[in-house]
Amino acid sequence: MATYLESERLTLRPFTAADADLLIELDSDPAVMRYLTGGAPTPPQEVRDLVIPGILAAYERWGHDLGLFAAHERDGGAFIGWFCLRPLRSGPREEAELGYRLRQAAWGRGYATEVSHALVAKGFTELGIRMVWAETMTVNRPSRKVMEKLGMTLAQSIPTPDDMMTVEGSEYGGVRYEITKDQWERRQF
Ligand SMILES: CC(C)(COP(=O)(O)OP(=O)(O)OC[C@H]1O[C@@H](n2cnc3c(N)ncnc32)[C@H](O)[C@@H]1OP(=O)(O)O)[C@@H](O)C(=O)NCCC(=O)NCCS
Repeated sequence: MATYLESERLTLRPFTAADADLLIELDSDPAVMRYLTGGAPTPPQEVRDLVIPGILAAYERWGHDLGLFAAHERDGGAFIGWFCLRPLRSGPREEAELGYRLRQAAWGRGYATEVSHALVAKGFTELGIRMVWAETMTVNRPSRKVMEKLGMTLAQSIPTPDDMMTVEGSEYGGVRYEITKDQWERRQF
């Protein structure tokens, strides 16, 4: 298994076409999907026909440097979810989105913060990234907390996308956080 990144307790690897069932199971938990779809699971066929091909196409675009990666515990190997560091398809390569989606069993142990720290560091020191951004719903406190713990700052409020208007808390809109390489370097000392 090719390793993309290792943190103290977790290891990240590229997804393969054989990983559909892991993603289907992850997205089948209403708690995981609460602030994404209002709790609805991603249809299995959509994972197989759209999600997995999209992840693999991104590797072709960015050569396994950027994209969505599967996270496993180093101790025992359990799949705990995914992280992403990826530019917009049509945007500048040096501006990357940070994202994360973890199985409920893995929450509250500092995993998202631990891996995001390592991912942002890799982006800035090895991958030529100059700015990392992340977006979430205003009411998604755990997600915002991770961004704040990374030293990211609130850049702007954003409107709720049309397809998320029925999600709990959508009336409060979303938030976008950012951190530049300069800001990140300054907080190292
Ligand atoms: C967001 C998510 C990745 C966080 O993962 P995690 O590994 O539990 O996060 P961490 O343990 O690293 O840290 C989360 C921080 O949020 C805090 N937190 C957790 N739940 C909280 C809540 N309901 N209200 C306020 N803070 C909360 C934690 O206490 C921790 O802060 P602390 O270290 O100062 O105590 C996880 O909840 C998840 O996968 N959620 C479902 C998918 C999702 O919403 N993804 C984000 C979409 S933008």
